[in-house]
This record gives sequence, structure tokens and C-alpha cells, in this order.
Amino acid sequence: MYFLKVAKHPDPDASLTPPLKQIFDGSHTTEAFQNGGEAATREYLIHRGRLKPDERVLDIGSGIGKIARPLTVYLDAKGSYDGVEIVKDGVEWCDTHYERFPNFRFHHADIYSKHYNASGTTHDHEYRFPFDDLSFDFIILRSVFTHMLKEGVENYIREIGRLLCKGGRCFVTGFFLNPDSIRRTENGVGEWVFPHRRGSIRLLDDAVPERGVAHDEAHLRAQFAEQGLDLADATYGDWCGRGVTLPTIQDAWILVKS
Ligand SMILES: C[S@@+](CC[C@H](N)C(=O)[O-])C[C@H]1O[C@@H](n2cnc3c(N)ncnc32)[C@H](O)[C@@H]1O
Repeated sequence: MYFLKVAKHPDPDASLTPPLKQIFDGSHTTEAFQNGGEAATREYLIHRGRLKPDERVLDIGSGIGKIARPLTVYLDAKGSYDGVEIVKDGVEWCDTHYERFPNFRFHHADIYSKHYNASGTTHDHEYRFPFDDLSFDFIILRSVFTHMLKEGVENYIREIGRLLCKGGRCFVTGFFLNPDSIRRTENGVGEWVFPHRRGSIRLLDDAVPERGVAHDEAHLRAQFAEQGLDLADATYGDWCGRGVTLPTIQDAWILVKS
């Protein structure tokens, strides 16, 4: 039903769907790639986050264009999209295929991740995004904190505080640890279990930490609040067996900068 709450937009160009073998964002079919991006855009960016066509969007962990693709038919000539991605192939694919959209830009950040970019030369906990302060109205991190450790996430939240203008929104998804999700995961309920504890975070795989990371919800909220970002909207997903149907299995927040 939530698909009906926002206006229908034309289908994005077919050339913006990569071949399945090149998709590395966890989508198992091209339909999942398309539907996942479109549903998240409608529900979380436009409906809950009130993204306007003329706003400036930063997509951190832009992958191979899952969110960029539906935004090509939503953002207007005054709006813009910048994607930052650590997998070079994803950036190169998007650079080539989005050539016709001059307000869409893709940037490679050579950040180390044992799971995604094992030859990376810099670290997320010290990375400064290549944009001026207050450059964006909307920042997206869809399933990105789920692949980052605590210090990297803390740095990114400080960067979000620097980059977002007043009234700007941040859409972030993740596996958020709170008493309810901890009880469920410890009882083996749900699809995702994080058996390895590392301080306040929990890992799917101790050998490759970035494969899957769950973060302490209270700590995340406090970090965002320090940057003047308060929670405006929250949905809690089915990853830990809550039995809910939402466009994302992860928990999803919209935060607003005051
Ligand atoms: C599960 S995919 C999600 C991709 C995209 N956001 C989406 O919604 O489909 C995780 C993405 O985060 C990127 N990523 C992982 N660690 C990152 C980091 N430290 N900084 C930025 N991106 C990162 C990965 O390369 C990958 O593209």
C-alpha cells in the first residue's frame, strides 16, 4: 500500500540496470536490484524523507547504482546526485552508464574493507569526503553501516554532520542492537544472527568483520544527536524475525539536522 502514497514516475532507462554478474550489492536477481532501489526511493526518500526533486543528494556506498537509477526519473535539472563508492568497478560502470545525466556524479574512495576492497589504501575512520561543508540536503547510507566497524561509523556520522545543511535529512539502514533485537538474535529468531561480540558491536563473521556488522542503537543515536541530527522516523525490520513486511529487511531511520 505504501507504494500508492507517492506519485508514479516513469520507469528508469533500461540501460541503468547492470548485468546480474556485475551486481555486488547483495541483490540475487536484476528484479531485486530494480525493485529494491525503487521501493526504498519511494518509501524512505520521497515519502518519509520528503526528498524534493531539486535537492542535492549524497549516496554513500552507492554500489552499482541501485538508488541512483530511480533518482534519474525523480531529480530535476536543479537537483543533483553524488555517489561515493569503495568498489572501483561499481564507480566505473556508473560513470559510463550515467554519462547522459550531467547532474549525476560518481566518486571512488579507495577505502579498505576486507570484504569489499581489500587493497584499499585509506581507512574509513580517517576519511574526509571530498565536498565542502553544508553541501547536501539529503544523505543516504543504505546497508553501509552494516559493513563498517565502530570507529568508521563514528567518523562518517561526524562527516554527515559537516556535510548536511540545516533541515537536511539522512536515511540510514542497519542492524540496530536494542533489547528487543538482542533477545531475538540470541534466541536464533530471524535470518540474521551475529554470534561474535566486539565491544558494543556484533559480527556475522569474525574472520571477515565487514561481511556483516550490528551496531548498538543507543550509541548510534547519541552520535547523531551530537551532530544535531535527531530521529524523525524509524522502522524496525524483519532481520531478527519481527514478522514485518517493509521495503528493507534492515532497520531504517530518517534523521533531520536542526
Ligand atoms: C550491501 S551494499 C549496498 C549498496 C547500496 N547502498 C544499495 O543500497 O544497494 C554495501 C555497499 O557499501 C559499500 N561500502 C562498504 N564499506 C564502505 C565504506 N567504508 N564506505 C563507503 N562505502 C562502503 C560497499 O562497497 C557496497 O557498495
